[in-house]
Amino acid sequence: MTNSIPKEEGLDHSLSLLREGYLYILNRRQSFHADIFETRLLGKKAICMGGKEAADVFYNNSKFKREGVAPNRVAETLFGKKGVQTLDGDAHKHRKKMFMSIMSPERLEKLKAITGKHWGIALEKWQQMDEVVLYEETLEIMCRTACEWAGVPVEEKEVKKLADDLRAMFESPTAIGPSHWAGRHARNRVEKWISDLIEQVRDGKVNPEEGTALHTFAWHRDLEGHLLDPEIASVEVINILRPIVAIAVYITFSALAVHHYPEEREKLKSGNEKSVQMFVQEVRRYYPFFPFAAAEVKEDFIWKDYTFEKGTLTLLDLFGTNHDPAIWDNPEVFQPSRFENWDGSPFSFIPQGGGDYYLGHRCAGEWVTIEIMKVSLNFLVNQMTYDIPEQDLSYSLVSIPSMPKSKIIIQNVQRQ
Ligand code: HEM
Repeated sequence: MTNSIPKEEGLDHSLSLLREGYLYILNRRQSFHADIFETRLLGKKAICMGGKEAADVFYNNSKFKREGVAPNRVAETLFGKKGVQTLDGDAHKHRKKMFMSIMSPERLEKLKAITGKHWGIALEKWQQMDEVVLYEETLEIMCRTACEWAGVPVEEKEVKKLADDLRAMFESPTAIGPSHWAGRHARNRVEKWISDLIEQVRDGKVNPEEGTALHTFAWHRDLEGHLLDPEIASVEVINILRPIVAIAVYITFSALAVHHYPEEREKLKSGNEKSVQMFVQEVRRYYPFFPFAAAEVKEDFIWKDYTFEKGTLTLLDLFGTNHDPAIWDNPEVFQPSRFENWDGSPFSFIPQGGGDYYLGHRCAGEWVTIEIMKVSLNFLVNQMTYDIPEQDLSYSLVSIPSMPKSKIIIQNVQRQ
């Protein structure tokens, strides 16, 4: 006996998805009283699901695959082609190991030092400025940090342009018209530049330090023992640079949280490691970033009496799982202390995907994200003072990626 999956009637709901953004899946899970429903997106049948058990099955490699899943507009901007996101099976495991090899404790320590250095330099500059648009400036700090940590040489006069190209890659996938095309052009430009750099590393003309992404990826060999195509190695180096720049979004939301919840700010002032960790986790749970992850059913299977047919596009609700009342008490309340007794399940808290880092598609950069956020938070709370003038700090749960409208303007920046 199987159950039929609750179904959203109609020809196509891509527009509703755009209109409802982060809440699209959660709204329907609530109205269907189910963690799963069927709909039609981009002209084809799709299953949407959310919650801890849904995440568990979604990250089961024998049931879902990734090849060919990303729509062209996402591949051409956010992901690039033939990168780790699009691989399955042994090829994925092998490539993922390459990513995880640069996430060692030593490399993370180095990253923390680099991040602190670039925050310090920025802070000097901000003290001379009448006002600072925090998101814009943080994008640049992150771009410098990303390049230095990854071993990618970039000239001072190119930093702003590169930061703009990297941000365009994650800001443009859902945009329409010129903004979307700007994202595609940005990707083409950066891919070409990094691909040339990979060749220069192989020719001995550029010598990045061992253990950096540029060095590791340039010399990585696939399962057949071949070096990666320079274009693919380039896509993978960008898979390090782009998302580090994207951490600017979380840093901006951290500043918003510090502003909105002064009692939490006080706890951070003590520098207590546990308080900082819980705050960062709550920022990643509470604020919107990636709405969902996508995969395709590998072979027919039955889960909870529902039939999943081979080839069906399946979306896992990341935002909705982080706001699922079955998992989180009062999910709409910003409350870092909820992480005090969190069980650490790899399927209940999934802002950067779930499951296992090495075996599945969970974000390779989650530790990087957490460490960079901690260093940045320390600057925001303990190393500087600033005023927040009247401005529109609201953010939308419809536009993806979301961002406070004003991008957070700060004034009178002083070193503490
Ligand atoms: C800015 C905060 C970040 C967010 C919200 C985020 C989110 C995600 C999500 C949702 C996925 C896909 C999970 C899936 O497909 O099931 C992912 C994958 C990935 N992320 Fe992140 N990420 C962030 C930062 C980073 C950083 C800093 C890096 C690298 C330094 C990184 C590298 C990757 C890579 C390589 C993958 C592909 C993993 C795979 O397919 O096996 N991400 N990320």
